[in-house]
Amino acid sequence: MRAVCVAGARPNYMKVKPVMDALEAAGAEVVLVHTGQHYDRVMNDVFFDELGIRAPDHYLAVGSGSHALQAARTMEAFEPLVEAIRPDAVVVVGDVNGTMACALVAAKGGSLVAHVEAGLRSRDWSMPEEVNRVVTDRVSDYLLAPSPDAVDNLRGEGYREDQVHLVGNVMVDTLMANLPRARERDPAGRLGLTSGDYGLLTLHRPATVDDPAQLAALLEALGAVTAQLPIIFPVHPRTRSRLAEHLPDGLLPVEPAGYLDFLALQARARLVLTDSGGVQEETTVLGVPCLTLRDNTERPITVTEGTNRVVGTHPPDVVRAALETLACPPSPRRPALWDGKAAERIADVLTTPSPGGRLRPTSLSG
Ligand code: UD1
Ligand code: UDP
Repeated sequence: MRAVCVAGARPNYMKVKPVMDALEAAGAEVVLVHTGQHYDRVMNDVFFDELGIRAPDHYLAVGSGSHALQAARTMEAFEPLVEAIRPDAVVVVGDVNGTMACALVAAKGGSLVAHVEAGLRSRDWSMPEEVNRVVTDRVSDYLLAPSPDAVDNLRGEGYREDQVHLVGNVMVDTLMANLPRARERDPAGRLGLTSGDYGLLTLHRPATVDDPAQLAALLEALGAVTAQLPIIFPVHPRTRSRLAEHLPDGLLPVEPAGYLDFLALQARARLVLTDSGGVQEETTVLGVPCLTLRDNTERPITVTEGTNRVVGTHPPDVVRAALETLACPPSPRRPALWDGKAAERIADVLTTPSPGGRLRPTSLSG
């Protein structure tokens, strides 16, 4: 079996690595295609180095730009590759623009499409990732779901049972494999902070950061929290250009952290505040309290079975929730199948021949 695996932005790397390894261990030939959406050392190279991902076989050099531009450039560059490689399956992960663009090209080019992280839904159509999730799932043959809520979403949308596979969460595979190495690091100490006595903040969603006045009001309000607890703030490049010059005392902006440093920072934080998708999941597995600064989440299991709470972006609500959580942290729990073996299950699904040979092309039931 020949599989093309696609990655290209920060949250893809920790998802694609265990899938590539498991496919190769199952005897598949794996071709890695990098779309080039993220390219800075701190957004890209550091993950390849730290996670031991081999250099991509093909680099599409898509770069930054509008959604249409990124998707169009990806599709244009990916199509001839798929024609030349003729893979049995194209494996896409997550919900970034390259996920959707490569899934579309693969489906039209006649390859089977496997979506890792299928079925997540925020039901917020203003979120570009929600469009990417729904479109990717619709053209995928294998829907590899991380959690029962994702399976329910797919069933509700009419996907066939033989397409939907509950495999667990591949991000957790990478987290578990790297946590011992991360724990050897002390990135908070390098900032003069005490382990276990700081908060951690990440913000990069357009809805949270694109309006500089809204962003400034949120960060200013966090001064009420930093008066009690210093907060480390690795600043995403989208956010950097919108950041006010003055930040409250105790809010410490730093450059985006590498995977191991960020894992170490999460593991020893008293509180994490974020609008990231992946960070909601990682804090759940680490048992660290997380406040999600959004109006919704496509990862509700981190709330029902984890340490996450969705608090919106209204500054007084965020501050109240932060102070409440510091006073009364949630109890850690971990969802089933978030056990470090999700990629093995994926490889099993993808390398086991379907009854009757090739999986039937995607069609909704009913
Ligand atoms: C993208 C994903 C988002 C994901 C996030 C993870 C989509 C629609 N969005 O958002 O789902 O949560 O990545 O981090 O695919 N930039 C740099 N250096 C880089 C990359 C980007 O400076 O290496 C800057 C550029 O100015 C760019 C901006 O960041 O315009 C935004 O980058 P982009 O890839 O368009 O979207 P993200 O906000 O990173
Ligand atoms: N991450 C990191 N350094 C940072 C911020 C995040 O290594 O400074 C990691 C984080 O641990 C998780 C992934 O990046 O594994 C999440 O990516 P991001 O928040 O960019 O995207 P999202 O998950 O929201 O799509």
